[in-house]
Parts: sequence; C-alpha cells; structure tokens
Amino acid sequence: MKNNIPDNFVDLTVTSPPYDNLRTYKGFVFDYQSMLKELYRITKDGGVVVWVVNDATIKGSETLTSFKQAIYAKEECGFNVHDTMIYEKINYIPLTHNRYEQCFEYMFVFSKGKPKTFNPIMIDCKTKGNNTDKRTFYQTNKQDKPTIGHNNVCVKNQKQNKNIWELSTNSGYKGHPAPFPEQLAKDHILSWSNEGDIVFDPMCGSGTTCKEAYLLHRNFIGVDMSEEYINNICIPRLEQYGWNSINNISKQNSI
Ligand SMILES: C[S@@+](CC[C@H](N)C(=O)[O-])C[C@H]1O[C@@H](n2cnc3c(N)ncnc32)[C@H](O)[C@@H]1O
Repeated sequence: MKNNIPDNFVDLTVTSPPYDNLRTYKGFVFDYQSMLKELYRITKDGGVVVWVVNDATIKGSETLTSFKQAIYAKEECGFNVHDTMIYEKINYIPLTHNRYEQCFEYMFVFSKGKPKTFNPIMIDCKTKGNNTDKRTFYQTNKQDKPTIGHNNVCVKNQKQNKNIWELSTNSGYKGHPAPFPEQLAKDHILSWSNEGDIVFDPMCGSGTTCKEAYLLHRNFIGVDMSEEYINNICIPRLEQYGWNSINNISKQNSI
C-alpha cells in the first residue's frame, strides 16, 4: 500500500487486521501503526475507516490490542473515533471456560474529520402504527432549555438501526480462515459510501469487501499479503459476478 495510493483518495475502508497471534498468516508480524498511518494519509476528508478487530486472551488476560489500535488511530494518526460498534455473532461457538461466552467483535468507525456520508440502515419498528398512550418525550426548546412532556404518538414504521449488529458467521466465504459475514461488509458500504465512491480493503482475504462494493456499484481496491488468497479466492469470486480481471490487477499485492 505504501505510496501506491495517492493522498486523500479513498472514501471508505472496510477491513479487519489479523487478531493478535490467533492466526499467524505465515509468521508475518502485523505492523498496525504503519497501516493506520497510511490509511489516514489515503483517506479523503470526511472519509471513514471501519476497523473490525478482536483480542486474544493470553495467560488469562485479554490483550486489549483492539483498544491500543483505536487509541493509536486517534492519538497518533488524527482519526476521530466516530463510533465503537459491535458485531454480535448469533451463532458463537460455546467454549468450556470460567467466563461468559465470547460472542462479539469490535467495529471501530474511524473518520477523517466529520463523516461526509451517512446513509443509515433502517429497521422496522416492532410496534409500528400503534398509538402509544401518553408517551414521555424529552426535547430542547429554542432557548436550549430541556422540557419533558407527554403526547399521544403513532409509532413510525421504521427507525435507525442500533450500533450492535447481530449477524451469523455462516455467511462468510468458506475457503478463508476469518472471512467477514457478507452482510457486515454490505451494510457498512451502504452506510458510509455512495455509488461511484472508492472502497478499499488493505487486508481483503477472501475479498468480501471487494465483492460487496462491486455489487453495490462502488469502485474498489483490494490488497492482501497472500497472493494465494488474491489469485485463488478473490479473483474467481469476483469473476462469478461478471467482474473482469484483465486491466484491473496490479501485481503489488502486499504492503
Ligand atoms: C482477518 S483476515 C481478513 C478477512 C477478510 N475480511 C474477508 O472477508 O475474507 C486478515 C487478512 O489480512 C491479511 N494480512 C495480514 N497481514 C497483512 C499485511 N500486513 N498486509 C496485507 N494483508 C495482510 C491476511 O492474509 C488475511 O487474509
């Protein structure tokens, strides 16, 4: 990635680094500092980086690498931490140990300044159309004084989704050790970019971000240190949807 991509070029990055040493990816030590600095350089003003990460538990303690990375992104690179979202795995694997079952990963939403795009995912309200009896509301009036009151309100059909996304791990690509659920990539791309934007994944693995970006009519760039993943998974996966690899491949597939 270094110097191959111009400054202020990418609208959205959706990516996931290797989690501590849970998977070694051929013994490669991951340098998150350089990666985050470069991501800041290439991200447009108002662009977003979604960083999906989790921690290993080593000698009985979580490493908190995820938070070290988020603090580095904020304090050393200049990103805003726009949101700390959770990807909740509805089909987590139960383990026999002395703590509650591990069922989530962090999805840090870093932004370069204020995000320039937000197309919120909407969900149905469970009680849509119902007339609530004397619903309590809280609002700020013109003098900025908060007031509390009661009203009869008709519940809307839809509302903005919450920042915990419940997803199945089963919708990821089967030939890679740690793929995104397709819905995760899709919903972030819809949320933080528009058609024609440039979407990037510097550790694209099986190419989930690239595939979803392509299907949503965004431009995309995918990079992975593994030539095997690029050649044997990403390219054939994209070609299934009519993407043409001729003219679109650069050999510089590692950072
Ligand atoms: C957690 S997986 C990402 C999976 C991906 N989100 C998907 O849906 O398939 C991390 C990927 O990072 C790649 N990787 C690790 N270190 C890297 C580096 N320094 N530069 C580029 N890719 C790297 C690995 O080969 C692996 O495919």
